[in-house]
Amino acid sequence: MTERSEPFTLHPPDARLLEGRHAIVTGGDSGIGRGTCFELAAHGAAVAVDHQGDDAEARRMVEAIEAAGGRAIAVQMDVTAEDDVTRAFAQVRQELGGLDLLVNNAGIEKPFALTEMPLAEWQRVIDVNLTGTFLCSREAARIMRRDGARGTIVMISSVHEQIPWVTFSHYCASKGGVKLFAQSIARELAPHGIRVLSIAPGAIATPINADILADPERKAKIQEEIPLGRWGEVEDVSRAVAWAASDQASYIVGATIFVDGGMTLYPRFI
Ligand code: BGC
Repeated sequence: MTERSEPFTLHPPDARLLEGRHAIVTGGDSGIGRGTCFELAAHGAAVAVDHQGDDAEARRMVEAIEAAGGRAIAVQMDVTAEDDVTRAFAQVRQELGGLDLLVNNAGIEKPFALTEMPLAEWQRVIDVNLTGTFLCSREAARIMRRDGARGTIVMISSVHEQIPWVTFSHYCASKGGVKLFAQSIARELAPHGIRVLSIAPGAIATPINADILADPERKAKIQEEIPLGRWGEVEDVSRAVAWAASDQASYIVGATIFVDGGMTLYPRFI
């Protein structure tokens, strides 16, 4: 796994796409979220690294970003708890001095056949992946509208907003939900200068896939589903997020950008 981490350096000033922006990344202390925090900071954004529970990694990340001359804070939040989300977003706005970029990254998955799926597991995945995305987007939009900020909301969706996945029906339902939620609020918020869009990763080498990556056979089997012939790296995704959040993408509204090595091209169908 390669990730933008140590030694961490900011891009040269003329290559920074997000100078002056204020961002929060949910689930920012691991996997795609972690890489995205570093990438946004490298582009000059002040970044709130959201985490749940243990803050050790978030604090380490803040130190690394600050040591390189960037700005970052750690913030704790349960994305499924309304009051917690309100509190954390207010804290971020105050400590960063604004909020104009939300990356809805927090997400979970655990396989269950439909006939074995406990209601609690269904609920847990929908709560984090879909309801959490709603709560954070609503809070961010409220702040951006109140402040008159031209903001951006980026969903970290999945190829599974489009591709059905056996034993992951709850996950697919949550990501399919995120897709139309994103498109609906993109229409609502665009007249206010707030862009909403989705980045949809395919199979990326992150801790969420640690079991598969440790098993050469399962790893190779998934690789066969990727026309490009390799698993994605965190930076493949985080670079797309930084670009999509920047003015370079200022006319992209409500779209899903797949970052999947071609997985959504149905490689097995000949
Ligand atoms: C999941 C990964 C999976 C990938 C492709 C992602 O949304 O989080 O676990 O490898 O989709 O199936």
